Amino acid sequence: MSERDFTGKVVLVTGGARGIGRAIARAFAEAGADVALADIRQEDAEATAREIAEATGRTVLAVPMDVTSLESVQRGCEQVRHRLGAIDVLVNNAGWDRIVPFLQTTPELWEKIIAINYRGVIHTCYAVLPHMVARRQGSIVNISSDAARVGSLGEAIYAGAKAAVIAFSKTLAREHARDQIRVNVVCPGLTETPLIEEMQQDEFARKVIGAMASYIPLKRLGRPEDVAPVVVFLASEAARYITGQVISVSGGLTMVG
Ligand SMILES: NC(=O)c1ccc[n+]([C@@H]2O[C@H](COP(=O)([O-])OP(=O)(O)OC[C@H]3O[C@@H](n4cnc5c(N)ncnc54)[C@H](O)[C@@H]3O)[C@@H](O)[C@H]2O)c1
Repeated sequence: MSERDFTGKVVLVTGGARGIGRAIARAFAEAGADVALADIRQEDAEATAREIAEATGRTVLAVPMDVTSLESVQRGCEQVRHRLGAIDVLVNNAGWDRIVPFLQTTPELWEKIIAINYRGVIHTCYAVLPHMVARRQGSIVNISSDAARVGSLGEAIYAGAKAAVIAFSKTLAREHARDQIRVNVVCPGLTETPLIEEMQQDEFARKVIGAMASYIPLKRLGRPEDVAPVVVFLASEAARYITGQVISVSGGLTMVG
């Protein structure tokens, strides 16, 4: 069996209904895994699950889950274990942002950004890790952002929340190495997804994104399919000696030492 074969494995992808999460879910199913897409967009998640199942012949399950609620996360994870079996790989991909200069943001916006992008990751890890520890196996890949590594205009709270995800991931990697559980982070740069489209409804956001795009050394925006294989690699046996690491997939926009 190849080191990148996920046959017999169960993968949970949060925010798997669309965008980067959908490409990640598909890449795992193509590698042989059964996949659960956990999302607040239940209809989109079900359509995506059907599409991936038809294309790959794997079992793909859409699970209602709001990562901001620990109770919803625990219920969703229980459903995955019941329907598919123990979770081998957790991908924390659900995320959200709006581009607004810090002094124009409100406490409500801070709360929403922190709840989805940081607290959501805490919730899923809290729900899934005990089972991974009991089985002494598992891999977690958290989707952060290059904003966390170098800062990003109009994304102060988001950058902070995504940086928290990196610090949290490194600490879990240290705490659970003894349990044979690896935790790594992927930081996309600008990637063509519905989220980026929605953000560009705003003129300031459009300017910031346009300026950033013009600096990408590889001369194009990223695609969800650029990010997915890196996530699959990090979760796979081929990456067995890699933990606590952060990899940018951003066309060279950031080059962090
Ligand atoms: N697109 C980019 O340029 C970019 C850049 C850097 C990082 N990222 C990160 O990549 C990840 C995916 O982003 P995307 O661009 O594909 O976004 P997207 O909005 O296209 O997809 C995100 C998915 O997460 C789901 N989601 C949102 N809130 C949720 C919640 N509370 N519970 C469960 N699911 C929820 C959405 O319904 C959606 O299906 C996010 O973590 C984002 O921060 C994206």
